[in-house]
Amino acid sequence: MTVNHTVLDHPLLRHKINLLRDRETRPVVFRALVREIAQLMAYEATRDLALADRAIETPMAPMTAQVLAEPQPVLVSILRAGNAMLDGLLDLIPTASVAHIGMYRDHDTLEAVEYSYNGPPDIAARKCLIVDPMLATANSSSAAIARLKEKGVRDMRLISILAAPEGLAKLADAHPDVSVLVGALDERLDENGYIVPGLGDAGDRAFDTPKS
Ligand code: PRP
Ligand code: URA
Repeated sequence: MTVNHTVLDHPLLRHKINLLRDRETRPVVFRALVREIAQLMAYEATRDLALADRAIETPMAPMTAQVLAEPQPVLVSILRAGNAMLDGLLDLIPTASVAHIGMYRDHDTLEAVEYSYNGPPDIAARKCLIVDPMLATANSSSAAIARLKEKGVRDMRLISILAAPEGLAKLADAHPDVSVLVGALDERLDENGYIVPGLGDAGDRAFDTPKS
């Protein structure tokens, strides 16, 4: 097993992830759960954010208070499904910048196809928190990380709700320098590259675009 990932273990997280898996969970609830799960995971994912001193005055006394240091982190959403997680992180860090990487899996090859990139110009100097609920073959997250490295980013972490062992192993091979936080580690991939037991297609379930 790989060494650069951590599987978070918390009863609330497990409860919400298992509600997400239920095929009866409708898109509006699915999105709300993904947002909440992202916030629970953010607590751990942001543990090492840098702080800086700021002089403030409380109603009682002056004090030196620690606040998030500049530059603030960049939240990187792998479209589409990453956007449901992004909303949760933006609730917590509204001063973060956002980068969007448009990416879809070719259904035949399972290779990631990038269709857009839009991020802040100074991204290389900032910490990136990448969000994508699903880490299956890792083709999408690996391609997104490669794109960020090409932009000069050195400090990044991937946050995924569900992962397959195959994807984690591949990511550790391709990007051993990038740490990964996952909410649950599932059994395996099926022959179509879907996580089992998983939750199905995260983007389709979040945005109500079933294939049939
Ligand atoms: C899903 C998911 C990940 C990717 C994971 O995206 O949101 O980005 O699959 O699979 P991988 O690890 O095998 O690459 P999808 O291609 O379905 O696009 P969508 O979010 O726009 O639906
Ligand atoms: N993408 C998804 O949305 N779900 C999977 O199980 C695998 C890839």
